[in-house]
Amino acid sequence: MAKTWNIEKFKKTARKAAAEGIVLIKNDKNALPLEKGTKLSVFGRSQMNYYKSGTGSGGMVNVDYVVGIYEALEASKSIKVNKDVRAAYEKFVEENPFDVGVGWAAEPWFQKEMPLSDALVKDAAAKSDAAVFIIGRTAGEDQDNKNEKGSYLLTDEEKDALKKVCKEFSRTIVLLNVGNIIDMKWVEEIGPEAVLYVWQGGQEGGNAVLDVLTGAVNPSGKLSDTIAKNIEDYASTENFGSEKRNFQAEDIYVGYRYFETFNKDAVLYPFGYGLSYTTFDIALGEFSYDSKEGATLEVLVTNTGDRAGKEVVQVYLEAPQGVLGKPARELVAFGKTDLLEPGQMQSIEFDIPKYWMSSYDDSGATKHKSAYVMEAGTYRIYAGSDVRSAEAAGEFELKTLEVIDECEEAYAPVKEFDRIKPMEAKNGFKRGSEKVPVRKLDPNKKRKDRLPKVLPYTGDKGFKLKDVEDKNVSMEGFIAQLSDSDLIAMMRGEGMCSPKVTAGIAGAYGGVTDRLKDFGIPVGGCSDGPSGIRMDCGTHAFSLPNGTCLACTFDEDINEELFTWEALDLRRNRIDALLGPGMNIHRSPLNGRNFEYFSEDPMLTGKLVSAQLRGLHKYDVTGVIKHFAGNTQEFKRHHVDNVVSERALREIYLKAFEIAVREGEARAIMSTYGPVNGIWTASSYDLLTTILRGEWGFDGIVMTDWWAMGNDEAGAPGDYKNVAAQVRAQNDLNMVNTSAEENSGGDNLDEALKDGRLTRAELARCAANICRFLLKTPAFRHMLGEESALDKELAKAISAEDASLQELIEVKFAEDEMDLDVKDIKVAKGATTSFVITTTRRCTMKLELVMRADKNQPDVAQLPMSVFQDKMLVKSHTLTGMEKDWQTVTIDLHPAMVGNSYLKIYFAQAGIEIKSAKLKKDKDLEEMFKRGISEL
Ligand code: BGC
Repeated sequence: MAKTWNIEKFKKTARKAAAEGIVLIKNDKNALPLEKGTKLSVFGRSQMNYYKSGTGSGGMVNVDYVVGIYEALEASKSIKVNKDVRAAYEKFVEENPFDVGVGWAAEPWFQKEMPLSDALVKDAAAKSDAAVFIIGRTAGEDQDNKNEKGSYLLTDEEKDALKKVCKEFSRTIVLLNVGNIIDMKWVEEIGPEAVLYVWQGGQEGGNAVLDVLTGAVNPSGKLSDTIAKNIEDYASTENFGSEKRNFQAEDIYVGYRYFETFNKDAVLYPFGYGLSYTTFDIALGEFSYDSKEGATLEVLVTNTGDRAGKEVVQVYLEAPQGVLGKPARELVAFGKTDLLEPGQMQSIEFDIPKYWMSSYDDSGATKHKSAYVMEAGTYRIYAGSDVRSAEAAGEFELKTLEVIDECEEAYAPVKEFDRIKPMEAKNGFKRGSEKVPVRKLDPNKKRKDRLPKVLPYTGDKGFKLKDVEDKNVSMEGFIAQLSDSDLIAMMRGEGMCSPKVTAGIAGAYGGVTDRLKDFGIPVGGCSDGPSGIRMDCGTHAFSLPNGTCLACTFDEDINEELFTWEALDLRRNRIDALLGPGMNIHRSPLNGRNFEYFSEDPMLTGKLVSAQLRGLHKYDVTGVIKHFAGNTQEFKRHHVDNVVSERALREIYLKAFEIAVREGEARAIMSTYGPVNGIWTASSYDLLTTILRGEWGFDGIVMTDWWAMGNDEAGAPGDYKNVAAQVRAQNDLNMVNTSAEENSGGDNLDEALKDGRLTRAELARCAANICRFLLKTPAFRHMLGEESALDKELAKAISAEDASLQELIEVKFAEDEMDLDVKDIKVAKGATTSFVITTTRRCTMKLELVMRADKNQPDVAQLPMSVFQDKMLVKSHTLTGMEKDWQTVTIDLHPAMVGNSYLKIYFAQAGIEIKSAKLKKDKDLEEMFKRGISEL
């Protein structure tokens, strides 16, 4: 386990993880691995712009470097790349530069491909042993993929170029640098020898590709999604992409659950599929069933080829159809072997608890409504290296139905619709349908009947949060000291780029007002996520492989190890929580955020997320697992209603979260923007109280997504100001507000408390959730002035500049002129001082410094000072040693706009003295701004 920050080890782990996620789809004629000394021509425009991740908040990690695929190949001693081909692409890119789009969610899915001349390809083929062709795609937040050329489909230019290469080269290897699966019909049509999904592998991604191409790593990644022939083959496609409402008629038949039950022929590459450079034999061993514990299965894996490698064994269930109907296959366990040498064997044992084999009855068809049941009949277990080839491994019979867990109806749809149900047909099943049961229990009534009790307001008794830790007072007693307005303020998280936490991060929560701070409540910080830390002020962090890539590892250990390093990056930057992992189900290959998410399967997702959380928890930081729940498309994500049966929610869309809570001990969750079954998730009592806390025992915090709505009842419109509905549901934190104290978001908490729509007890309950969470954070320890040995070690692993961004000096710029405290400004050699300026004004500003060279400076001394605003250099000003008299230096800053901006002063040399520093308003931009808005 990592002990302290070691960037070299982090790099190695990330490289290993990215390599383990690479999926080898095709490898004819042993095209791979490349032998030492291979002469390689690299084609495809994407060699010029490796996608380390997708776009949007999940991809905005600032990094020291990125190793792209070409760069890794070029640097490798075992491969000789053809520089002529590269030169052609370099020239093309000069004329066709990378198109970043303009603004948020505007980066195109692909970059224009270079047409290939016959001469170039022929010449390259004559000089090379093999060709690599790289195809790149991106998508992300607010930008779904589309079933169009350039997104889900290859462009004509890409196909033409690839055809030419395949024609001339006897070995063409296609690398897909993509966020999620794409159309694959071209593989048969064009016929390259080898194809690999290399995903978006983070900043070490190119090195991981190199390792797999050369055979330094034998590929062992497996598809975390089914690849079907056409997008129309996915059952979700009929009900995807609407701007108002998607009826999830495919119900639990998502991904392979659908294909294996209804349409096997449509599958090109099954779920769990992936090749290796060696071969394995999977021998099915002892199977047993115990009526208490469930099933166990032993599997013996032997490496039957001639290279060391790893294999993934997947265990599937086929439950009896009963009256509920079941998918033909459901993943119930998986495991990866160690690296097996040729001839080496390893046995893996799987436990399959009964809960995993049960189904949720949302209709009462089994006479056990709202319960997980195992229906009578034969339960068959299959095991193998993908869902299609998994073989019968054992079976058992249940004579009568068993109730495994009794729940309560929660979050059922209010709108009627039909869902798919299997109907017996000649050779298997065909699609039948049935009515989806609608909601019978009113969540508002549940809430009223179950209102919490609370200790009456006591006023300040002198207890601090530390007294709760020391058991001098109960959490309830501590919270009773807080006034209604204190409690209300605590529900408001602040951001983005709050001055109260490390610069540039997304959110701050907890002790966000002076009064709350006086009660000893720390301010916790959180940052995006999931692929590493996003700090918008430009601070660098480490960028991880994307979620899909990590899912395809099918490896809990590597996920855990990688996230212990991530934990240290968080600790180093003084951040308590990463806004991730993203764990929504890949309902459709077109969801733009699939790159952040893992899989179409909830168990794979839940287990791997739990492993990541275990890694983070080793160093007392955590992940805010998101988006809870049902974020299946980006288009109109604030509004689109996902109408889904309670069974599909529980078996598919909530299941991964359930595992992360029960097994991964998740401490923090982010609700989604949009509604499910008519109720915005952030205000769903059933989701956040009945199920999450009531059934699963979650006792951490729930935060909204950034600027999220709430509503009071299905059908009522969502409203950004309806935070009362969120608090009632136990969505503890409304993210994000510029000022909690001033209710900058204009929420309805005060008003709802007065008119009885919200109770003090509900506020207190959320406040207790927040404080309980904060007790576990590094922020709490730091507030108490405790610096652990690890903190001290980590402090050495951060530059002076970045450290200054963790200890910001807050400046509220409200008057026309204000003094900065010169004692704050460090003038030593290499010293950096960072201010965060918070303002509600729109104006240009000046920084006025009265300064001189100190008397010991020789006349020829050069004494530079640099001023940066939001990471951009505004001005460098150099005094000479001769300037020993006080002088006023005025620096024009960028216009101040409402919100926070950073001001940094840096001294490359010692020798300057500062007498005073002032911030001054220059030109008023208020009028101009108003005009601009009205003109817009
Ligand atoms: C995204 C979240 C993200 C948040 C903060 C939102 O737009 O949906 O996933 O964590 O912004 O950046």
